[in-house]
Amino acid sequence: MAPSSSSSWLRLRVLVLVACLLPSFIQCKIRIYKFNVMVTNTTRLCSTKPAVTVNGLFPGPTIFANEDDHLLVKVVNQVQYNLTIHWHGIKQLRSGWADGPAFITQCPIQPGQTYVYNFTITDQRGTLWWHAHIGWLRATVHGALVILPKLGVPYPFPHPDSEVVIILAEWWKSDIETLINSAMKEGLPFQVSDAYTINGQSRPISNCSSEGGFSFPVEPGKKYMLRIINAALNEELFFKIAGHSLTVVEVDATYVKPFKTGTIFITPGQTTNAILEADLGTGNYLMAASPFMAEPVPIDYTAATATVHYSGTQSSAATTLTDLPPRNATPLATAFVDSLKSLNSQRYPARVPLTVDHSLLFTMGLGFNPCATCIHGSRIAAYFNNISFIRPEISLLNAHFFNISGVFADDFPGNPPIRYNYTGEQPTNLRTMEGTRLYRLAFNSTVQLVLQDTAMITPENHPIHLHGMNFFVVGRGLGNFDPEKDPSNFNLVDPVERNTVGVPSGGWVAVRFRADNPGVWFMHCHLESHTLVGLEMAFVVDNGQGPNQSVRPPPRDLPSC
Ligand SMILES: *[C@@H]1O[C@H](CO)[C@@H](O)[C@H](O)[C@H]1NC(C)=O
Ligand SMILES: *[C@@H]1O[C@H](CO)[C@@H](O)[C@H](O)[C@H]1NC(C)=O
Ligand SMILES: *[C@@H]1O[C@H](CO)[C@@H](O)[C@H](O)[C@H]1NC(C)=O
Ligand SMILES: *[C@@H]1O[C@H](CO)[C@@H](O)[C@H](O)[C@H]1NC(C)=O
Ligand SMILES: *[C@@H]1O[C@H](CO)[C@@H](O)[C@H](O)[C@H]1NC(C)=O
Ligand SMILES: *[C@@H]1O[C@H](CO)[C@@H](O)[C@H](O)[C@H]1NC(C)=O
Ligand SMILES: *[C@@H]1O[C@H](CO)[C@@H](O)[C@H](O)[C@H]1NC(C)=O
Ligand SMILES: *[C@@H]1O[C@H](CO)[C@@H](O)[C@H](O)[C@H]1NC(C)=O
Ligand SMILES: *[C@@H]1O[C@H](CO)[C@@H](O)[C@H](O)[C@H]1NC(C)=O
Repeated sequence: MAPSSSSSWLRLRVLVLVACLLPSFIQCKIRIYKFNVMVTNTTRLCSTKPAVTVNGLFPGPTIFANEDDHLLVKVVNQVQYNLTIHWHGIKQLRSGWADGPAFITQCPIQPGQTYVYNFTITDQRGTLWWHAHIGWLRATVHGALVILPKLGVPYPFPHPDSEVVIILAEWWKSDIETLINSAMKEGLPFQVSDAYTINGQSRPISNCSSEGGFSFPVEPGKKYMLRIINAALNEELFFKIAGHSLTVVEVDATYVKPFKTGTIFITPGQTTNAILEADLGTGNYLMAASPFMAEPVPIDYTAATATVHYSGTQSSAATTLTDLPPRNATPLATAFVDSLKSLNSQRYPARVPLTVDHSLLFTMGLGFNPCATCIHGSRIAAYFNNISFIRPEISLLNAHFFNISGVFADDFPGNPPIRYNYTGEQPTNLRTMEGTRLYRLAFNSTVQLVLQDTAMITPENHPIHLHGMNFFVVGRGLGNFDPEKDPSNFNLVDPVERNTVGVPSGGWVAVRFRADNPGVWFMHCHLESHTLVGLEMAFVVDNGQGPNQSVRPPPRDLPSC
């Protein structure tokens, strides 16, 4: 049972409350939050369904902290599902037990149980987010995690007058866990969402009082920082505001060289901070999020829309509209991604590894594997290097920390088992291997990882997310990565640093990182339709020397399986 009994939790809360009432020039070092995970009847798109939420909110509560703060988030599971929460993008230095992916760093918090996520925010500032990391519960269990700079440290750009969180997501009218369980059992395609949403609302629907559309009030002449999060399960998105350009200043909680753009491109898992100047004086302007697909599938969709509303303008006044980018606007997506460069200032240097200890090439794609319960006898599978990941029965971090054998192998191949023209003609055999195989790294070793899409079944975009460490995106291209020619074009000076990168459809991305965080770190596609069928693997980073370079012992209330 959890040792953090209610009374000691209460004592801690009172202690922190008192500490945080001290004058505001003293940074409140410990931040305490309580997440009651509950079922809440929620009405969207004019229909009500019971949805799993945190504290009854969709999107969930925003967590605010300063860099260097310690966070304690007590999660109380009051629903019938197993649950975990992931703090997306937090490096979790030596504190992998608080990372959250189910069966990777912890067993699930079972119905009726509680768990206190305990971690410190080190050397990160900007917008990140949190979400459930089991099944597809993150559809409604997610929220923003805002990390302000240390007290007294300014942003490296003009301070905005005000800030707002903008969460882009997807909404299903039906119960999502039921949908995916039957799709998996029968081997049928996953149902696409019924709507995209901006801060929980899809768009103003005139005959539907529950759907007013999100409205963002602005004062003429002021500057606003939008903290944009793509919490959608399966869609890369474009985001724009009629009549206004946006200045991008930060992505995935790392500062970038500011640049102006009319359209933001953001993949699931990513965050983008951008400055909006309310410089038009008056009016209502459309804010829109619409999907990007290099190869659009023929499915109807309606963009999520909201309104930027200038004070003094009648809310009934007409809204200035904007063209939406075509769904396959690849040049627009590419131009946006190519504009991202690390700030790389003296204070915020880009520490790109210049030497490489492990040079890896991982192919990604889709296949088919036999399935006894499936209507057609097989079901879609997805892979890194032809291996579809199988989740173990106990957590990998447990197995690693306590030397429990038989849970995983550390023989994940550094290169594809069969070399062929990955983006050209495909092998006729579409089967994949299944396994729980990890790639082992020594503490502080450096990695260059080329993520290569294949055209198996179909080429597709894959937003790849690494837990525990950020990477630098040093190169990107279409077709097959060429190990002779492409490295000479790598940006090793000011490449963007992030935790999630969109690999282009039929192309590749090269990233570099330093394995300076001991533990077990999940890497996976952030399209849930791909994650669920195996587009996942993990790195195991060994301890270095001494306690400061070793995984901490697990907390006493860590859930067991
Ligand atoms: C949700 O609504 C249904 C039908 O109105 C009701 O039976 C149920 O008790 C409600 N659940 C909650 C958690 O409020
Ligand atoms: C949080 O973790 C730190 C470091 O392991 C530990 O010292 C502290 O006691 C923990 N706090 C709680 C409330 O568990
Ligand atoms: C709202 O109007 C649309 C179009 O007339 C109609 O299809 C829809 O059923 C209406 N919704 C409600 C909740 O009345
Ligand atoms: C696991 O094995 C390593 C290396 O042999 C050892 O240092 C460590 O103490 C072992 N851990 C446990 C919990 O037995
Ligand atoms: C790989 O396939 C693509 C698409 O068919 C083709 O354009 C390319 O020339 C092929 N590359 C090689 C090395 O054969
Ligand atoms: C993937 O693994 C399966 C099962 O071993 C094998 O049949 C298939 O040829 C492999 N495909 C590739 C592209 O490596
Ligand atoms: C990791 O390696 C780099 C480069 O050799 C070195 O500068 C750094 O001090 C090392 N970090 C640790 C924590 O050992
Ligand atoms: C470990 O880190 C702490 C805090 O940074 C420091 O005070 C201590 O000297 C370090 N210990 C070792 C053995 O490096
Ligand atoms: C929750 O997880 C535990 C441990 O893995 C498992 O035994 C149990 O069946 C799961 N319960 C549900 C409701 O999925």
